[in-house]
Amino acid sequence: MRFKGKMVIVSGGGGYIGGVIGQQLAAEGARVAVLDRNLDSAEKVAAMLPEGKAYAVDLTDYQAVLQTVAGAEAQLGPADFLVTCAGGSARRRIRRFAEQDMAVIREIIDVNLLGALHCLRAVIPGMIARRAGKIVNISSLVAIGGVEGCADYAAAKAGIIAATRTLAMELGPHNVLINCVCPGKVQRPGEMPADPVAFARKHSFLDRLCRAEDIAGLVLFLLSPDADCITGQNYIVDGGRSLGLKGDH
Ligand SMILES: NC(=O)c1ccc[n+]([C@@H]2O[C@H](COP(=O)([O-])OP(=O)(O)OC[C@H]3O[C@@H](n4cnc5c(N)ncnc54)[C@H](O)[C@@H]3O)[C@@H](O)[C@H]2O)c1
Repeated sequence: MRFKGKMVIVSGGGGYIGGVIGQQLAAEGARVAVLDRNLDSAEKVAAMLPEGKAYAVDLTDYQAVLQTVAGAEAQLGPADFLVTCAGGSARRRIRRFAEQDMAVIREIIDVNLLGALHCLRAVIPGMIARRAGKIVNISSLVAIGGVEGCADYAAAKAGIIAATRTLAMELGPHNVLINCVCPGKVQRPGEMPADPVAFARKHSFLDRLCRAEDIAGLVLFLLSPDADCITGQNYIVDGGRSLGLKGDH
């Protein structure tokens, strides 16, 4: 029970990775504010938690984020932790940059970068005032390695890593710690290929791809007292996918 009595805000908490992070934090005693644009999925996650509450909010709207954070803190107590997990690459609309619609590019930046900055801006002043807080931002391996068709998403996620470093410098003296986690491809239970081991070996150096639980394990470590001296860092969780080229030699 590493997080008994702690209050955590999980943005994108209704999603796959955010949902598992919320569940694991709750299993270790935390009260969880599940923030998501999709109220149904946020409520489904919150319903599984002993002390969870769902909040519908579009994170691209800063005033709405401010109000939602204030409401969540009034109901569940001041935030001890923030996990920014909302986002995505708009898979079905991925296109090479030269052909991409500017509206899609703007939307990807708004959701993945500004959405996270809005949450950080809303939560950080309270943490500074209380001289206590831990934050984990979820970025992506795409920010580091790149992937064709995702220049907007890569830029947004790289912005999160950069913001994490600078914020660690600003917040450290206030006893607020902030780190970043970059997942590689995360396998959803419903998206298993016919031969999972062959698929995993094609993409990583392990016999399996990462699952949300693997991301959550690191997030919980970074929020725990074991990580009290770690700030401003970025960690990759990808089964070794980013280590080097795979193929014939
Ligand atoms: N799944 C992967 O393979 C993978 C890999 C690397 C990074 N990531 C990152 O991990 C995070 C979680 O990914 P996931 O796979 O759980 O995706 P997901 O789609 O299951 O969850 C994302 C959640 O964010 C919410 N969201 C999106 N835009 C929002 C907005 N404007 N306001 C409020 N909520 C909004 C969605 O409703 C959804 O519930 C994302 O930031 C994603 O970019 C995922």
